[in-house]
Amino acid sequence: MHLPDLLRLRLADALSELTKFGLTGDVGAYASMIRATNDPKFGDYQVNCAMPLAKQWGTTNAEFSNPRKVAAAIVDALQVGDLCEPAEVAGPGFINLRLKDSYLVDQLRAMLGDPRCLVSKANPARRILVDFSSPNVAKPMHVGHIRSTVIGDALARTLRFLGHETITDNHLGDWGTQFGIIIYGYKHFGDPDLVAKNPVPELSKLYRLVNQLIEYRKAKRSIETAQTDRCAAESEVERLQAESIATSDPKEQKKAKKRLASAQSKLKSLDSKLRSATKKIAAVENDADLRVKAQQHADVDHAVLQETVKLHQGDEQNLRLWEEFLPHCKDEINRIYDALDIGFDHTLGESFYHSMLSEVVEDLKKRGLARDSEGAVCVFLEGFDAPMIIQKKDGAFLYATTDLATLAYRLEEFAPDEILYVVDTRQSEHFEKLFAVAEQIGRDKVKLVHVNFGTVLGEDGRPMKTRSGTLIGLEGLLSDAIDRARQVVCDPERLSRIDPPMDREEQRRVAEAVGLGAIKYADLSHHRTSDYRFSLDKMVSLDGNTSAYIQYSYARTQGILRKAGSSETAVTEIAESIDRFHHPAERALAISLLRLEEALKAVHQDYAPNALVDYLYETAKAYAVFNDNCHVLKADNDAIASLRLALVALCGRVLRLGLDLLGIHVVARM
Ligand code: ARG
Repeated sequence: MHLPDLLRLRLADALSELTKFGLTGDVGAYASMIRATNDPKFGDYQVNCAMPLAKQWGTTNAEFSNPRKVAAAIVDALQVGDLCEPAEVAGPGFINLRLKDSYLVDQLRAMLGDPRCLVSKANPARRILVDFSSPNVAKPMHVGHIRSTVIGDALARTLRFLGHETITDNHLGDWGTQFGIIIYGYKHFGDPDLVAKNPVPELSKLYRLVNQLIEYRKAKRSIETAQTDRCAAESEVERLQAESIATSDPKEQKKAKKRLASAQSKLKSLDSKLRSATKKIAAVENDADLRVKAQQHADVDHAVLQETVKLHQGDEQNLRLWEEFLPHCKDEINRIYDALDIGFDHTLGESFYHSMLSEVVEDLKKRGLARDSEGAVCVFLEGFDAPMIIQKKDGAFLYATTDLATLAYRLEEFAPDEILYVVDTRQSEHFEKLFAVAEQIGRDKVKLVHVNFGTVLGEDGRPMKTRSGTLIGLEGLLSDAIDRARQVVCDPERLSRIDPPMDREEQRRVAEAVGLGAIKYADLSHHRTSDYRFSLDKMVSLDGNTSAYIQYSYARTQGILRKAGSSETAVTEIAESIDRFHHPAERALAISLLRLEEALKAVHQDYAPNALVDYLYETAKAYAVFNDNCHVLKADNDAIASLRLALVALCGRVLRLGLDLLGIHVVARM
């Protein structure tokens, strides 16, 4: 059990003791008020419950209205002598706990002998299905897709290590409109010879072309309404400006300003909509060839939907084309998964569920949950403005229908305790509705979680785009990252200091580990729900919260072990000879190493791998301080050398394990 949990249990015991003096209330909630301190002045952990307790308890027992008195009573009842120095009451009623050095040294010894680094296995284990990556194949993958892939993989690895039974499933979008797009493109613009020779780039080209024509049509249609809306919004802003000047009452003025601000922001968003539509239109109309195509394919969006419907209805030609194209699309994404070293237990794409969809609709109708509405079949849900549409007027099924079928299949086939959907925040409403339906049909035993995430932004703070306006392709990005990493870690100055010299193959491996690590780490280092700015330069830096910094720290641990003529296994055998700390930096590093389990549990708690990233960064920093202050190879005596070597070996192990759980490779030197 990790320390905070252990301390919480002890605190809960102490608080239960105090009930005999009339303490009432939720002991568990108060016992959870323990936090790791960030300043050793206040010990290693701090208990903060005396203040709120005094407020509550003081009303019935005057003696305990003073938080310092409450704190003192807790300290009296608290039995932590085996873990901590005598507890101290500080300030208004904080209880500071300082771990005993002897306890820490014991733990380090135990850690040396435990390949799991003292991380216990979950008991009972949960069966957790992770739905992640799930790109829409047939359209080129971009950097936004990497978020689901990287976050999902890190979660799956961490949960598995924690002892849960983890099932990963890539819910490939292999059946949607994007196939209608390439089928249409192939039929009208495709060159069968070229496609046969070079399928992936040719299909991508066709996708982009048809998509551009569709976007052009949409822009043409939306621009007129947007212009009308803009005129209305502009006069509304003018009216509100006049109104806010006219009132002198401060309350009214405040209200008017608020209305004005909201009208201004509406105007701004209409402006940006207009700008983007104008750009799309110009891109087509300024190109003679595209202009002709746009004229000839004026109903392209409708026609593409028709192709998709035909595919779904089993049209022979479209089905044949789909069967021909799909493997190439899969090859393309598999190349990326290989590069990223990411795999799945299952890849059950949307097409897998196609034959189950009509049954889903029938079942919901039978249960009285779904009904016809203006020709479509809808599920009306309380608390939502719009219903969930599960079948369109023309008979077509939707994304939601597939997700309902997928859920039913997963429950039947895998009987999971939890299903995690690692999907963009923009799909929140879809999942809220899906989960609401699941609850209505009695599938409430399984815990369904939308592990949502924000957008990847360019350095200018806007969603990432290349100059031509299309999103940056993923493969190019990965190789850019590796090149950039090579410039940093294999810079001639650095290389000249590495002995024996690195050959080309080793340089390649280092650049690859750092480059790919950089992309994954940067993504994982932000809380998943926030947007983040993508900057290759910052990502591959050797300083700061980057994967290169952690990988470099790991390589340093291995360098020291090599110089000491030792190894991780050899160090395990000196466990008995380590006795106590000789420098505060040793102790601080030891505490950091012992917090690994805490960090991993936090990842599960909030489905947020950044808890592990933060932990690794803190540990690497503690290691840097240790390195600056504590000689390992020239230690004063054998006992000091043993302890320090043990810390170095354990630090290496923890950093490697942590990076591995994030899907990031290490190298022995860099
Ligand atoms: N293919 C979808 C997209 O790219 C994501 C699918 C996520 N998983 C799911 N079960 N809906 O938007």
